[in-house]
Amino acid sequence: MSESTNFKRHRRLRSSLAMRSMVRETHLRAEDFIYPMFVVEGENVKNEVPSMPGVYQLSFDLLLDEVREVYELGIRSVIFFGVILDKDEIGTGAFAEDGIIQEATRLVKNEFPELLVVADTCLCEYTSHGHCGVIHNHDVDNDESLKLLAKTAVSQAKAGADIIAPSNMMDGFVAVIRNALDEAGFSHIPIMSYAVKYASAFYGPFRDAADSTPQFGDRKTYQMDPANRLEALREAESDVAEGADFLIVKPAMSYLDIVREVRDNFNVPVVAYNVSGEYAMVKAAAQNGWIDEKALVMEKLTSMKRAGADLIISYYAKDVANWLKENE
Ligand code: PBG
Repeated sequence: MSESTNFKRHRRLRSSLAMRSMVRETHLRAEDFIYPMFVVEGENVKNEVPSMPGVYQLSFDLLLDEVREVYELGIRSVIFFGVILDKDEIGTGAFAEDGIIQEATRLVKNEFPELLVVADTCLCEYTSHGHCGVIHNHDVDNDESLKLLAKTAVSQAKAGADIIAPSNMMDGFVAVIRNALDEAGFSHIPIMSYAVKYASAFYGPFRDAADSTPQFGDRKTYQMDPANRLEALREAESDVAEGADFLIVKPAMSYLDIVREVRDNFNVPVVAYNVSGEYAMVKAAAQNGWIDEKALVMEKLTSMKRAGADLIISYYAKDVANWLKENE
């Protein structure tokens, strides 16, 4: 082809592995990940979540082994979810000083002081009805729930949690939690707000894992309509104004447009939550031999960072850290 032919040769920059690595714009690092873990009561319990192969409910003793593995892989943060049998109307287990998350946090921080423990601050795993707050007249009572959420956050900070991540989508949760943390002497503890959380069918497997399916109705009066974009910006805006230090967008895969908009409009770290249903779909296809799991997962998670996520909460974190090590 003559030199004068007028078109661009984009393939020049794709000609070899070294060339492609040189011009690569987005990278995954083990430190980008927060690994979610389900904690159960008892001893020597390791229940695989049926819809999430490779993900387990773990009792304290086995939790420590798993955390060690995570830490040795270079992952620097975990988020805990508690699974308990003894639930009540107001979710007392969420804010008990010796609650499951509080105890797990103490244990893990004692062994791994450098690891960042993120506490999911919600009531749904602890209420008998499975909703994320207190029920009055068949709906969640916003302001009553806030009081319990604030208590939960303070009890988690007391137990040593490094980051408080409120996820129940009550209005004002960041303001109320910030205030409660400050008053209790935890002004140094950041809030990672589930600011933009959609009412999503992608949470199904999580609700099995955490035993938190609502016993009546759904979460549509507090979680967002998947059809909405401006509402996401309003949610993010008020949470930042109330003092959120990080913003979570959840789910991730079908909401990358929202991740990008939140990244472009706010100047705090943005976290994409690659949720349980996203994990389950990929696992199922992989187990059937229908897709190349490693290639697909790396592509999918890279796309979240490309969309603007600074951090990713993912059940695939351990696998990614392993794959990154293989490539070193
Ligand atoms: C609520 C909470 C949920 C998830 C994380 N925190 C579930 C829900 O809203 O029903 C879902 C995470 C996932 O699907 O991986 N405390």
